[in-house]
Amino acid sequence: MILKKLKRATALVGVLVLTTGIFAGCSGGTTNKPSDANKGGKDDEIVIGFSMDTLKEERWQKDRDTLMARAKELGVKILIQAANGDDNKQIAQAENLISQGVDVLMVAPHNAEVAATIVEAAHEEGIPVLSYDRLIKNSDVDVYVSFDNEKVGELQAEYVTKLVPKGNYVYIGGAPTDNNAHLFRKGAMNVLKPLIEKGDIKLVYDQMSKDWQPSEAQKHMENALTANKNKIDAVICANDGTAGGAISALSEQQLAGKVPVTGQDAELAACQRIVEGMQTMTVYKPIPKLAETALDVAIKLAKKEKVETNGTVNNGKIDVPSVLLEPIVVDKNNMMDTIIKDGYHPYEEVYKNIPEDQRPKQK
Ligand code: GAL
Repeated sequence: MILKKLKRATALVGVLVLTTGIFAGCSGGTTNKPSDANKGGKDDEIVIGFSMDTLKEERWQKDRDTLMARAKELGVKILIQAANGDDNKQIAQAENLISQGVDVLMVAPHNAEVAATIVEAAHEEGIPVLSYDRLIKNSDVDVYVSFDNEKVGELQAEYVTKLVPKGNYVYIGGAPTDNNAHLFRKGAMNVLKPLIEKGDIKLVYDQMSKDWQPSEAQKHMENALTANKNKIDAVICANDGTAGGAISALSEQQLAGKVPVTGQDAELAACQRIVEGMQTMTVYKPIPKLAETALDVAIKLAKKEKVETNGTVNNGKIDVPSVLLEPIVVDKNNMMDTIIKDGYHPYEEVYKNIPEDQRPKQK
């Protein structure tokens, strides 16, 4: 701890010089300025560093905002940096947080393998590492807090195979660098495989999307439609961003709203597409619950207290102690009882394009 305070003091000097640059330069960097952290010099103050891959998707902005609000409520400091999908930048930002002497480092990695170096660097300074939402592979990461990501894939495939028990299927996955993308796909294949073996379902196209880019997903969907002369019966997209891309390609062929498409993240645009009938479902992962759980665990790590976990996830090196939360299926029928009831998105915005007399009544 003393070493950390010393580090924090010296880092403060360094950061004060730097801050003007980083703060101004990096749109993804949001920090409670270290100077604040030391205002009043409360030694027992817990400082948590959070190294994020990106703020590109709506959900990550929610993670950032919820974590900052919750940290304030709990009286802990949180320093957040986002690397915009750049591995070298994420490593540099994480090393910067480590050099500032944070008590715990949370990491949502861009690249599950590359981020292992961050765990090593943090452990060299005695700083525990929490893998946030996405797992860091092949490392001695201390704890993993996320949703049950394999179940996300199972829920997507279960939903769409009930609607379309037979036919030509397309799978559009997420970023190959993201361990979650592989868990989502594994879950979906758990459900599809027996139906494929029975010959009921034919997986005519199956590709991952670099950096979760909707434009990649749109290209995949266009290729699948061309290769199968538009004879596509269902599409499993790993998240709402890729679903949006696939639906753009389907609408070019006047198939949007006719071919079921899954998603994930309950983005506002996806919730609108769902109530308008363009997207079939999404998997809702209440981000405030994830942020609050991760902060509770991080504070326990900082205080060297025992962390309650509800499972482990193997990362190729160890069985990482994990806290996995439940994902929730959302479609047109339960939008009011989930997204609207939780205040995740405002009623007026979700039903924006639905005539007032056709909207479900607010309770
Ligand atoms: C995954 C995350 C999803 C989705 C995706 C794109 O790791 O679990 O919720 O947002 O990244 O950023």
